[in-house]
Amino acid sequence: MVLLSNVIAFFIRNHLLTVVEGRASSQSHSINNNPPAISYSTGTGGWEHALVKANAFIARLNLTEKVSMVTGDNGPCIGNIAPIERLGFSGICMSDGPTAFNRADLVSIFPAGLTAAASWDRDLIYQRALALGSEFRAKGSHVGLGPVGGPLGRHPLGGRNWEGFSADPYLTGVAMASSVRGFHDAGVQSCSKHFIGNEQETQRSNTVFADGTNIEAVSSNIDDRTLHELYLWPFADAVKAGTTSIMCSYNRVNQTYACENSELLNGILKKELGFQGYVVSDWFATHSGVKSANAGLDMTMPGTIDVESLSAGTGLSYFGANLTTAVNNGSVPMTRLDDMVRRIMMPYYFLGQDKNFPTTDPSAMHVLAAQYGASLGVPEIPARDVRKDHAKIIRKLGAAGTVLLKNLNSTLPLKSPKNIGVFGNDAPDPTDGLTIISDGSFESETYGYDIGTLDVGGGSGTGRHSSLISPLSAIKSKAQEIGARVQYITSNSRLASNDFRSIFPTPDVCIVFLKTFASEGRDRTSFENDWNSTAVVNNVARKCPNTIVVTHSGGVNTMPWAKNPNVKAILAAHYPGQESGNSIVDILWGDVNPSGKLPYTISEHESDYDIPVTNLSSVTAVDEWQADFTEGLMIDYRHFDSKNITPLYEFGYGLSYTTFSLSSFSVSKLVKNPPAIPDASKAILPGGNPDLYSPLLTASTKVSNTGSLAGSTVVQLYISLPQDSVPAGTPLRVLRGFEKVALKPGESKDVKFTLTRRDVSYWDVIAQTWRIPRGEIKVSVGFSSRDLKGEGSVTVLSK
Ligand SMILES: *[C@@H]1O[C@H](CO)[C@@H](O)[C@H](O)[C@H]1NC(C)=O
Ligand SMILES: *[C@@H]1O[C@H](CO)[C@@H](O)[C@H](O)[C@H]1NC(C)=O
Ligand SMILES: *[C@@H]1O[C@H](CO)[C@@H](O)[C@H](O)[C@H]1NC(C)=O
Ligand SMILES: *[C@@H]1O[C@H](CO)[C@@H](O)[C@H](O)[C@H]1NC(C)=O
Ligand SMILES: *[C@@H]1O[C@H](CO)[C@@H](O)[C@H](O)[C@H]1NC(C)=O
Ligand SMILES: *[C@@H]1O[C@H](CO)[C@@H](O)[C@H](O)[C@H]1NC(C)=O
Ligand SMILES: *[C@@H]1O[C@H](CO)[C@@H](O)[C@H](O)[C@H]1NC(C)=O
Repeated sequence: MVLLSNVIAFFIRNHLLTVVEGRASSQSHSINNNPPAISYSTGTGGWEHALVKANAFIARLNLTEKVSMVTGDNGPCIGNIAPIERLGFSGICMSDGPTAFNRADLVSIFPAGLTAAASWDRDLIYQRALALGSEFRAKGSHVGLGPVGGPLGRHPLGGRNWEGFSADPYLTGVAMASSVRGFHDAGVQSCSKHFIGNEQETQRSNTVFADGTNIEAVSSNIDDRTLHELYLWPFADAVKAGTTSIMCSYNRVNQTYACENSELLNGILKKELGFQGYVVSDWFATHSGVKSANAGLDMTMPGTIDVESLSAGTGLSYFGANLTTAVNNGSVPMTRLDDMVRRIMMPYYFLGQDKNFPTTDPSAMHVLAAQYGASLGVPEIPARDVRKDHAKIIRKLGAAGTVLLKNLNSTLPLKSPKNIGVFGNDAPDPTDGLTIISDGSFESETYGYDIGTLDVGGGSGTGRHSSLISPLSAIKSKAQEIGARVQYITSNSRLASNDFRSIFPTPDVCIVFLKTFASEGRDRTSFENDWNSTAVVNNVARKCPNTIVVTHSGGVNTMPWAKNPNVKAILAAHYPGQESGNSIVDILWGDVNPSGKLPYTISEHESDYDIPVTNLSSVTAVDEWQADFTEGLMIDYRHFDSKNITPLYEFGYGLSYTTFSLSSFSVSKLVKNPPAIPDASKAILPGGNPDLYSPLLTASTKVSNTGSLAGSTVVQLYISLPQDSVPAGTPLRVLRGFEKVALKPGESKDVKFTLTRRDVSYWDVIAQTWRIPRGEIKVSVGFSSRDLKGEGSVTVLSK
């Protein structure tokens, strides 16, 4: 045990410490002197039975045990709630993250959230979460720390955007709900994160200097309407889908740390959205005891070391013994502590985790030790293999999340090239091995590696590969099958210096693989792909008139080479996960017809896009890091539409090897003269006032495959609220429906959309409710945010 604690301490110091450097903040920044009251759980929305069990459990706990239920402790997982042997409670294990079961062996690396969103395929997104969730369960982890609904993608260069889904809240909301259901159906708790406004990594936490000066974390200053219509929207969907926990984020919101922000936690999350589960702090994101507990934080992590002392096992915490004192002296009501435990235990009973839950994989500490170059001094224990046949869904989703951006003269699918050129440092197997090795904290780790394909980003959301199929190895296998040869150069510096002496004869087709590393802990600094990408593409294209570019990236890139006439085709393959090479070969040779659509906008110029990350080079005041979200709702395509800027490739765009058409669009009302606002007397359910989700409109269209190949497309529905009866700052149009449809050549299908009250309302900051504007609402359908084929209008409420 001593050795295990040493490893944990080592791990914490080396991996998490500089993420925080945090300690108590003596200052209080709350601008609200009248915070919302504590919001208690009721078990409403399906957890009534679990509530009865949770209450019975609480009745048997003494005060020390109650406190231990809400305070992280030592253990084999990244987050641990200690067992209570007296009651046969075996504890709770929480593990990273949204893309893979991190810091473990014999697990799968799934496509990133961004890739999943680019598929626009509800079912595949669900299947991804179901498979990932089953790996958590089989490893003995009760809580998978995902899905990610924030960052949403305010900053195109945000370091963690790839862990989440899309810069559009509707698409992200659908993906959150599908992922929550997938996790729960696998018997594992979801932890929807990061709540909220964690849009940048730079100064996401406070920093303490040697002299003790404490520079506070960045404050995301978000107005009420923007919060509701953008950043909160996906979390509302997650809560409606029953998400069992929510992780509060590192940053401050309106000057108050997210994990001690009563407006956010008691007021918006628990009261307005009716959230029944528990709020857990991001690791080291707790900055107070009494204040946080009363503000709505239900569990602190990692707990035993979440104050200044940074050695594991010391038991120091803002909760722990401090919380016991606080309950005894009356500053935290016992009813509040009971509710914290109730919220933690309801999901546990709801998902049946009290029965037949697998034990924690005993290899956990051995893998951790290996990752940090430590040794346990005892023979290694091999890991439990939990991968099953998940490679299949990974391969499929990797291809489905690949977006075909350009395809001149039907260059793709490849016909039968006999001489294939593969170029770029993203093509081959990584020379450093199968795991991104961190040199310390996320911030200080080497920013990406040179030679080797990139299928997943860095930080807590990454994973250790047990298998990784690189593009070069998959293309070589394919070439062998079809009797072709493969030539390659995988050194970008050689390519950037235009040295092609090793290539003869010039290949029939040259495929360039580019990558963009993105990681928790820091934001990206370049729009272009990494490693001299532009010089690499231009040189290959000069050499080879038939050039195809494939990007593996954690977010938005500019593509200065996109219009190069020798660049015949472009594929944005995002982070596809461990089957990367197989997924791209499926697309290149046409075994899979591309159907991915951009879940963000690619701009022509960097300057068209940027909402810069707040980055202060010299800070003198402790409170200087302020991020004012003054653009309001105008992020991503909403910004391009409002400023009338033509992007290179717009939100929702993506080509296919076949063609599609839309016809017969119609939109109609389901309810005559509905009230303008939801009925305030309705009991709140998880997700908020249930009226918000009642259907008000229906729309339909017919989609046809007009080409000669089978394929899928995504029919997208956008609405435009009447600009003269909504407040200023309302986007020109917003996504409010999509459907992925598979069609054989010549086949047609009807597509139906249902729009709810929330879909056609805006957040009225004065009335503090969603309101349907008076006048004509335009509804359009199409194949992207700018390729609209059918348009109609409907007046829900006349003027
Ligand atoms: C609560 O029960 C635990 C056994 O689980 C015991 O060790 C502890 O002393 C008890 N605490 C109180 C305050 O009774
Ligand atoms: C943050 O401040 C803005 C501006 O005063 C206000 O509109 C919004 O409601 C506040 N949000 C929270 C969660 O305090
Ligand atoms: C209680 O919290 C304070 C910080 O407010 C910390 O210094 C102290 O170590 C904590 N005590 C325990 C027993 O965890
Ligand atoms: C109660 O205990 C907590 C935790 O030690 C402490 O922060 C707080 O100041 C105490 N309050 C009173 C009224 O004694
Ligand atoms: C591509 O197709 C266009 C139109 O069919 C033709 O004019 C052009 O020469 C073709 N380019 C190449 C490189 O084949
Ligand atoms: C922030 O500024 C520092 C120092 O000027 C720089 O090194 C860093 O790359 C910047 N970060 C971002 C995300 O721009
Ligand atoms: C880019 O290429 C130049 C020389 O062509 C080289 O000095 C530099 O190290 C390269 N940078 C990267 C990131 O590969």
